[in-house]
Amino acid sequence: MVLSLQHLALGIPDLKVGADFYTTFGMNMREGRSDMLAFRCDNRSHDEVVLLETGQRRKFHHISFATDMAGFARIEAALKARGLETVPPPYPEAESGLWFHDPDGNLVNVHVRDKDKGAAEPLPEINRPGLQSRLNARGCPTPDTLKARPRRLGHMILFTPDVPRHVAFYRDVVGMQLSDRIVGDYAAFMRTQGSSDHHVLAFLNSPAPGFHHASFEMGSIDETEVAARRLFAKEYRHAWGPGRHGVGSNYFHYFRDPWNGMAEYFFDIDYITADATWQDEEWTKKDGMFLWSADGPPPPDFGQNYEID
Ligand SMILES: [Fe+2]
Repeated sequence: MVLSLQHLALGIPDLKVGADFYTTFGMNMREGRSDMLAFRCDNRSHDEVVLLETGQRRKFHHISFATDMAGFARIEAALKARGLETVPPPYPEAESGLWFHDPDGNLVNVHVRDKDKGAAEPLPEINRPGLQSRLNARGCPTPDTLKARPRRLGHMILFTPDVPRHVAFYRDVVGMQLSDRIVGDYAAFMRTQGSSDHHVLAFLNSPAPGFHHASFEMGSIDETEVAARRLFAKEYRHAWGPGRHGVGSNYFHYFRDPWNGMAEYFFDIDYITADATWQDEEWTKKDGMFLWSADGPPPPDFGQNYEID
């Protein structure tokens, strides 16, 4: 069973383009070998996005999870029990641990590592009716005090032609749990063992596998929208939002990355504790997608898989 999402990796045509997008998005860049860049949020001790220059159109490369020794042993045993082969790491600097393929052929890594808690960044106090926590202080942040940078990678979504098959694989082999679904096997949202965000990996139906989006947590709505202004200023393409999802409940704001994937800022996602008796529910597409969004329903290409020819 996995305990946390560590990073996702994409194969892309041009690293320079990727460097500008993710640093504008608000992440710190680390140069690896000449055909690789890695990015992490402030105060994080591991990479959260890895870009590999392939010279080809963008293609999802791999997903990496962390677990403890017991979780690692259980996944190793689950792979063996099903006769599933492990494969060598895809490049010399790649994480150690187990490398294997999911039913769509996506490369998956699991390695042993403590959960990265990062440093506790100060969060804004807010006043609500009858519940005032910011007393005798002006609340609007200033450009100097508002960093507007993502705190951590929270989740990602993959396209698949077979959502239930992937739910079963990531439940039975990887040890994740189903949190909610959208009717007609259109989508499924999974969390890790232990206490977890509502989803760290989700699947969206499409005729072929592919990368839909990666999502990063912000400290407030102000941070989300000030960060969005940074992307607008460099003419990155707004995709959808700001708004509030039904499934997972998080506020969202999506931008297109340079390769027609998406990066999302999120805030206030549902959190499910290890001892919760959470029952997954089936949502309608409309209610699951959003309660409200400043720009209305999702754009027509929100669910389009740009890895398909
Ligand atoms: Fe998301």
